[in-house]
Amino acid sequence: MIQIEENKSLKELNSFGIDAKASAFLFLEEFADLVSLPEIVSSFGAVQIMGEGSNILFTGDYDGLVILNRLGGIEFENVEGDNVIVHAGGGVNWDDLVNVCCDKGYNGLENLSLIPGTVGAAPVQNIGAYGVELKDIMISCDTLNIRTGESRQFLNIECEFGYRNSIFKRKYKNELLITSVKFKLTKEKSFILSYRELQEKFQHTDKEELTASEIRDFVKSVRESKLPNPEEIGNAGSFFKNPELTKSKLGRVQKKHGKLTFFKIGDKYKIPAAWLIEQSGLKGVREGNTGTYINQPLVIVNYGVESGKEIQAFSKKIQNKVYEKFGIMLETEVNII
Ligand code: EPU
Repeated sequence: MIQIEENKSLKELNSFGIDAKASAFLFLEEFADLVSLPEIVSSFGAVQIMGEGSNILFTGDYDGLVILNRLGGIEFENVEGDNVIVHAGGGVNWDDLVNVCCDKGYNGLENLSLIPGTVGAAPVQNIGAYGVELKDIMISCDTLNIRTGESRQFLNIECEFGYRNSIFKRKYKNELLITSVKFKLTKEKSFILSYRELQEKFQHTDKEELTASEIRDFVKSVRESKLPNPEEIGNAGSFFKNPELTKSKLGRVQKKHGKLTFFKIGDKYKIPAAWLIEQSGLKGVREGNTGTYINQPLVIVNYGVESGKEIQAFSKKIQNKVYEKFGIMLETEVNII
């Protein structure tokens, strides 16, 4: 039975730790409760689906219904074969899933260790780190249209995955609830070690001896050394995306600034936003109760703001400074509500 809470504080439910209130709130834990969702939703104009609130910035109270997806369960299929399928509930903590799979020697998720958030949020963002993106290992996801009650399974190819982007973030935003996700893992040792830090660490390791858990431990240590822990200081990971430039745009920026740091991806050139921010003199700066993190300026941290508006204003300042210097407009990665 679903209970609706009114005037609910979201402070503990978003990793920035912003004290915004939702006028209505429901905690969704049981698959059996999905049938009653459309009727409940029908009395609200605005609805916000949330996982662990690790990629969201509230700039004020939320006038509408917040649905917290905590649909659980992890099941494995085809465990006798080499290609194991794992099926996880949309509300499962992402890193718990990675941990269980690495422990069992089901490989594929290890590079995505310690990414905050839930399984259901992972396809929305097409989460990625250290050379792997969710789209590389996801088979399909099951969704429920919270207004019509229609269930639909999306195959990987139907999700229109892009860099931190998907059909769920655009066309179906806050309309489809991701109830569960299926991943294709393998017992084979086909690890992705192309990212510079992983390459350096494991270049002399016998790949047949290497395990997903060792990669996981290393990824965790890299992340812990660069990224602030939201339990200690509020943040939502990378605040901006890394801009992707065309060859001609890159040429124009190079002409003006000389040497640039960039990575060629397909026919695009990705410039690290962290580098642009650092070059704009904004690495590790503090302004009022917000600032950029010392080890990774792509991350905006909360030192105790009264409202998310302060963080939003600071993020605009970063955008403006980078634009003035490089003529590149940074796009936010975090969802601003
Ligand atoms: N850099 C700097 N100054 C810094 C830090 C980094 O110039 O202080 C430059 C360096 O050139 C470095 C490059 O940025 O080589 C890349 O840095 P890093 O490896 O830390 O990755 P990133 O591009 O900044 C992305 C993701 C992260 C993910 C890492 C690792 C985005 C927006 N961010 O960051 O994802 O963990 O790669 O794969 O794509 C997130 O999405 O919240 C997130 C943390």
